[in-house]
Amino acid sequence: MTADRRPLVAANWKMNKTNTEAREFMQSFLPEAEGIAADVDIVVCPPYTALHTVTDLATGSRVRTGAQNMHEEDSGAFTGEVSAPMLLELGVEAVVLGHSERRQYFAETDAALARKVPRALHAGLLPILCVGETEAEREAGETERKLRHQVQSDLAAVDVARLPEVVIAYEPIWAIGTGKTATPEQAQAAIGFVRALVSDRDAAAAQDVRVLYGGSVDAGNAAELMALEDVDGALVGGASLDPDRFLSIAAAARP
Ligand code: PGA
Repeated sequence: MTADRRPLVAANWKMNKTNTEAREFMQSFLPEAEGIAADVDIVVCPPYTALHTVTDLATGSRVRTGAQNMHEEDSGAFTGEVSAPMLLELGVEAVVLGHSERRQYFAETDAALARKVPRALHAGLLPILCVGETEAEREAGETERKLRHQVQSDLAAVDVARLPEVVIAYEPIWAIGTGKTATPEQAQAAIGFVRALVSDRDAAAAQDVRVLYGGSVDAGNAAELMALEDVDGALVGGASLDPDRFLSIAAAARP
């Protein structure tokens, strides 16, 4: 983490919490989060069904709301999908794109992400683009090849002028939900490499772009990970379901 980039922590609730549970979380989370959010961007990404409740409760606070996915078209015959204007109307400000679970279980492609990322930016949503390798890819020495492919393809249509606004989350798939965190050396090496890939497009943008770590982040390891030079925050799954655990992680991101 460096003083030049504002830290960001995002809660990815995945398919967890009903509307009622989301309300309960926010009621306990918001009063404590407000002070931390003066120094750290905090984004809560509930399922679509709880977006309205979360944005409503967060209105007037510094905490922002994100969706977990978005279609690149504004409207049309795309059953089950949700578009940027629909999210914006609710007060949503960010969107997670290309999470490995979307890629693995729902056939999310790099070609679709190459359309979604610029669409989100154009709509005024903060895109949080997820990239990362499988365990087999890491063992085969393919981590950099995979990251290069994802970063280059998914950001191909983003104008250089808007590159600094993209947030990239490096999430090694073998560390997601497994309790197996990347070591600080692994996280720094991969995230430094992601930043270098952005630098291939534009050196100044690479200094400004925020790169998060994700994969079994919890209160016990957050501070060590955030202290790494190129790590600008965290994308948190399991540990973000509990307000106190997520608050500790957010507090650890304070510069
Ligand atoms: P985890 O999930 O923190 O539960 O490992 C992270 C993520 O998938 O974003």
